[in-house]
Amino acid sequence: MKKISIGILGFGVVGRGTVETLIARQEEVMLKADIEVDIKKICDKSIPSEIPFGLSAEVFTDNAEDLLEDDEISVLVEMIGGVGFSKDFIEKALKKGKHVITANKHLIAKFGNEFFSLAQENNVLLLIEASTAGAIPCIRALRKSLVSLDIKAVKGVLNGTCNFILTRLQNEGGDYADVLRQAQELGYAEADPTFDVEGIDSAHKTAILGAFAFGGEIDFENVKIKGISDLITDDFRFADEIDCNIKLIGSAVKKDGKVYMSVLPTLVKKTSKLGQVHGVMNAVLFEDEFSGPIMMEGHGAGGRATGTAVAADIIEACKHAAK
Ligand code: HSE
Repeated sequence: MKKISIGILGFGVVGRGTVETLIARQEEVMLKADIEVDIKKICDKSIPSEIPFGLSAEVFTDNAEDLLEDDEISVLVEMIGGVGFSKDFIEKALKKGKHVITANKHLIAKFGNEFFSLAQENNVLLLIEASTAGAIPCIRALRKSLVSLDIKAVKGVLNGTCNFILTRLQNEGGDYADVLRQAQELGYAEADPTFDVEGIDSAHKTAILGAFAFGGEIDFENVKIKGISDLITDDFRFADEIDCNIKLIGSAVKKDGKVYMSVLPTLVKKTSKLGQVHGVMNAVLFEDEFSGPIMMEGHGAGGRATGTAVAADIIEACKHAAK
């Protein structure tokens, strides 16, 4: 069995969830994927005072160059977020011929087209499963299982924070700011939660889904966006009266060869598939004439849940590197 060394940039909520998954599931991975994933280096600006998950302290560094310059590392994982340092890191990693994994939807929505070209030029993988809909393997499904579909539309509940807030306000009422604070405490929200509540995070994910569902480039600039921050109590009361829930729906629809993308608060029948996606759960619904609707549902945010998606990409990249 081959051992492949990886480096991880960022030991925040998702970074920890990923490392925990890889360590807790080490035996299963070796058995099922026939690969040993060696976490050789983890870089974070603050090294934890108590080293978790039985890792050795030597694994930690605060210098990202240690990961990039290590020739034994063939897979690098970016989990610091943002579009500054993370962009440089990914570009350098791809140019050095390392496989790259990222959960950074903002970065992929903005620079994904360039990154995918760079990955192709350097003959390496760029895997982004965790960028969209947390634990739900929707990108892998689009890359593999759904390639025979002629998708007419992909629609989804794509932001765990918003769905957590909307579900709570619909079912229990309460104060918007309090519920948002809870979502932040649970590790669901972005560093800047306006990205969540103004629909921008959902739009990043919609643009990514649109590109994978229909081919072509990631086109964030063409997503029409409206968030949930100006919904009022009366909106939820009205939705109830007509047996609906309000959901923030990201959708990409193909009509006459053109793709239309939007993120909008939407009245959805309580009994419909998307109307029953509650709390931090996300769902992605694919529409195709031959297969009929296919919906995938799962946790859309949170370190452990998202960590499983990152870990799956790491395992795919390690298997590729071992060939
Ligand atoms: N802030 C995001 C959400 C995290 O709430 O869905 C997962 O992308």
